[in-house]
Amino acid sequence: MCGIVGYIGYRQAQDVLIHGLSKLEYRGYDSAGIAVYDNGVIRLQKSVGRLATLEERVKGEAVLAGMQGIGHTRWATHGRPSDANAHPHADEQGRFVVVHNGIIENYLELREKLTEKGHIFQSQTDTEVVVHLVEEMYNGDLFQTVVQVLKQIHGAFALAIMAKDEPGKLIAVRKQSPLVIGLGEGENFIASDIPAILEYTRSTYIMDDGEIAVLTADGVECFTFEGNPITKEVFNVTWDALAAEKGGYEHFMLKEIHEQPRAIRDTLSGRISEDGQRVVLKELNWTTEQAASIERIHIVACGTSWHAGLVGKAAIEKLTRIPVDVEIASEYRYRDPIVPDNTLIIVISQSGETADTLAALRESKQRGARVLAITNVLGSSANREADYTMITMAGPEIAVASTKAYTTQVVVLYLFACYLAQQRGSIGASQVPEILQALKGLPELAERVLETAPSLRQFAEKYKDKEDAFFIGRGVDYAVALEGSLKLKEISYIHAEAYAAGELKHGTLALITEGIPVIALVTQDDLYEKTVSNIVEVKARDAYVLTLAWQGDGEIGKYADEVITVPRTMPFLAPVLSVIPLQLLAYYASVARGNDVDKPRNLAKSVTVE
Ligand code: F6R
Repeated sequence: MCGIVGYIGYRQAQDVLIHGLSKLEYRGYDSAGIAVYDNGVIRLQKSVGRLATLEERVKGEAVLAGMQGIGHTRWATHGRPSDANAHPHADEQGRFVVVHNGIIENYLELREKLTEKGHIFQSQTDTEVVVHLVEEMYNGDLFQTVVQVLKQIHGAFALAIMAKDEPGKLIAVRKQSPLVIGLGEGENFIASDIPAILEYTRSTYIMDDGEIAVLTADGVECFTFEGNPITKEVFNVTWDALAAEKGGYEHFMLKEIHEQPRAIRDTLSGRISEDGQRVVLKELNWTTEQAASIERIHIVACGTSWHAGLVGKAAIEKLTRIPVDVEIASEYRYRDPIVPDNTLIIVISQSGETADTLAALRESKQRGARVLAITNVLGSSANREADYTMITMAGPEIAVASTKAYTTQVVVLYLFACYLAQQRGSIGASQVPEILQALKGLPELAERVLETAPSLRQFAEKYKDKEDAFFIGRGVDYAVALEGSLKLKEISYIHAEAYAAGELKHGTLALITEGIPVIALVTQDDLYEKTVSNIVEVKARDAYVLTLAWQGDGEIGKYADEVITVPRTMPFLAPVLSVIPLQLLAYYASVARGNDVDKPRNLAKSVTVE
């Protein structure tokens, strides 16, 4: 996730671009850059670090004068944060510049072909292929060239493009990455999101997938990817600036919960072969021998990331039969762990900066283990220090309570489990195509799960004054129960506990009294009857039971007070869907209790100290 902006009109473009980027920093902030056209030359300034660094630079010695330009704030996915990898990207002659948000899936193949033709690449980004393609295919008409380039690139992208030889024109393109056009008087704007242009205009075109906009200072024309003209309706923005930054949602957490279908899609993107049969992990590129040499795995993480690890253990063991231990980083680092030869350590960290997780990473490396980091932040310490990294494509997570980072960590772990099985020819290898098919279906199913929000809001409002809640489940349902209970605790401040449902009668049942809310997950078909019998036990003590079950389960309603359903997928993939209602439940409970949802008391987003 990155932010792009563009401006053409009568103001100094530099100021408009920097202002716009400041409103898009929530989309990424590891580097930023702008390109401005002035008197036959395109000038670029870019810099690793927060936007403030770029701002300093361009406000001081490097003012870029000119009334037309494009800009970018980056959340690194391909190529770590650096000046060279920051956008805009230009061809060698500086005739074309491009900014991009999204993923060009076939960039490696295009890069190879373009390199053979003599193009010299300056960065490791996927984006740079676009500018070289434009240069390669340019026929004197930027718009027509872009139409041809779009036939070559696959993936998700919002692009803004400018050519030195065609002053007075910007081109914007959208496919699966957000893009709005701001409509002014004698000026027009491009942005990934509305806050970037609200200062100047409230009239917009919301671009749809497969659309191109050609902007001049005096007007905007829109076209299909085939180059046919289309008419867009003007959308007038009525939100205030802060609401716009949250995409119209009341809190960042709710916005991030709703971003999950997109985040899952981006995380899968480019990691499944076109025929859907194989996992392609270019970031690992392990030989059969490398994959086969792994004899055991330790997954190490904290909090929500640790919960993702528990789901990962189930998937890896199921598909590969490699034994996996999942450890809390703050314990692991001090307990003198036994790390036999051929152990792979997987550290999971959204931020990549959690002190305990990094200490565990270093401890394992010292003991000679190979380390794979699963992180949301390219360029983070975990990424830099690990031997291998798999990036989750959640984009920046702002709310303290982690949501989209968890679901994307889980998706990465499924991909990794499939990859390992496929490379080793393990027991689960033959199931990989079916699992990949099911994974590809998850974004759409997640959209449908989001529709359960109104029922969860009602439940949360009814139970907002309870002081305790219990979550129960078996197998991966238990792992999700742990995450649901953590979410509820951290933002609603209701005391919540998660139990493996079979453990209840070993003590906890004593706490089940009349009206106490019990949230029971029942998505594991092979454990269904066992969990139902635990539900019957708590119902017999007059608990109020909300169950989370598959759509079409006609039985479960007999045992529960309320039923929330999720659409069916393969049972071992259920966590990606079943966690969403629990996130919504915690969210609405927090709102109902009047808490600061995005910044819960005593907590920080990134725990960089012990
Ligand atoms: C809970 C939450 C935390 C983090 C934990 C680890 O919602 O966000 O439990 O999961 O602090 O953080 P990372 O993943 O950044 O290492």
